[in-house]
Amino acid sequence: MPNPSILILPGDGIGPEVMTEVRKIITWFGDKRGLQFGVSEDLVGGAAYDKHGKPLADETMAKAQNVDAVLLGAVGGPAYDDLDFSVKPERGLLRLRKEMDLYSNLRPAQCFDALADFSSLKKDIVAGLDIMIVRELTSGVYFGEPRGIFEEGNERVGINTQRYTESEIERAARSAFELAMRRNKKVCSMEKANVMESGILWREVVTRVAADYPEVELSHMYADNGAMQLVRAPKQFDVILTDNLFGDILSDCAAMLTGSLGMLPSASLGAPMENGRPKALYEPVHGSAPDIAGQGKANPIACILSFAMALRYSFDQGAEADRLEAAVEKVLADGVRTADLLASEGVEPVSTSQMGDAVVAALEASL
Ligand code: NAD
Ligand code: IPM
Ligand code: MN
Repeated sequence: MPNPSILILPGDGIGPEVMTEVRKIITWFGDKRGLQFGVSEDLVGGAAYDKHGKPLADETMAKAQNVDAVLLGAVGGPAYDDLDFSVKPERGLLRLRKEMDLYSNLRPAQCFDALADFSSLKKDIVAGLDIMIVRELTSGVYFGEPRGIFEEGNERVGINTQRYTESEIERAARSAFELAMRRNKKVCSMEKANVMESGILWREVVTRVAADYPEVELSHMYADNGAMQLVRAPKQFDVILTDNLFGDILSDCAAMLTGSLGMLPSASLGAPMENGRPKALYEPVHGSAPDIAGQGKANPIACILSFAMALRYSFDQGAEADRLEAAVEKVLADGVRTADLLASEGVEPVSTSQMGDAVVAALEASL
């Protein structure tokens, strides 16, 4: 069997900075755990635009279709803000998600004990938090037609369309119920069935799918209430199932429960490939953070934990994923903090690279 293949797409801003730390981790697993990967690297986002005039070259797209997992840093930044919409960096990422058909986006929000004090919420509200947001990723208002900016009389109109088919809702729902079966057997589905027809259909289909999972307790919540409940009492949730746009917003919100957006990993999964593993892309939830890019301040943990998800979901290495997550937990328990995680003045933050080194040292200590 050839070594499993990984395509690394560092992207823009802090993307390449956090990915440098992930490479250290990949090397460590190769050297110390015998997990050899065939790693290749390419451009996405603004970096790809600079070279090819578009945010994802066709050859890169083809490579992504043929690897066991893609690891992506982040895309976007002010240098590209004025580009034509069709070639903006974000279009590169959206093309990857759409053409790889990565319909199920897993965004786990876990509050590590060492950071419970640091959340902007009270400690007892977040301590021990462990929720999983399942965001539908290939449809909804991100992709629905008609879309565009059109002339209408003497003014222009901007149009995007929320559109969901039953099968799109069903496959995202199944992935949420499957996850719930391996967790605390609760799914809360969030939409706005009170004002949107797509929400009515969403609720109906999710309820139908739930019949196949009688052990799982299903509840429904309007997404606006869901946002409020996430900051009021987040531990009431186990798995949250939601659409593309609500999932984008709710997951940034959930990030702050864990202490920082720099902590939240994600896995975007599609249908199983020939080897039985899902087509997959792993990326931190955060963006390219232009305000801190190039300063060595970025927290690499979200990207490192995204690689832990790759170990679990693409490479069947659950025990090694646990090892990596435990190493991150130990580093945090030891008080190592990047600037985004500093609660009090007078504590010296570590750099992106020092944080990566600390995780490697904790991995080493785990042997
Ligand atoms: P952002 O996530 O880049 O940053 C939001 C805030 O969080 C900033 O203050 C930033 O410094 C901080 N932050 C984010 N990640 C951090 C980390 N790892 N360590 C420390 N602090 C961190 O969101 P934004 O500013 O709204 O967007 C900037 C650019 O990134 C935009 O072009 C946007 O489209 C893009 N973006 C890309 C992705 C992605 O590639 N998946 C996700 C979100 C935003
Ligand atoms: C995310 C980002 C993306 C999204 C952008 C960059 C396309 O915000 O991954 O959360 O909106 O999905
Ligand atoms: Mn987002």
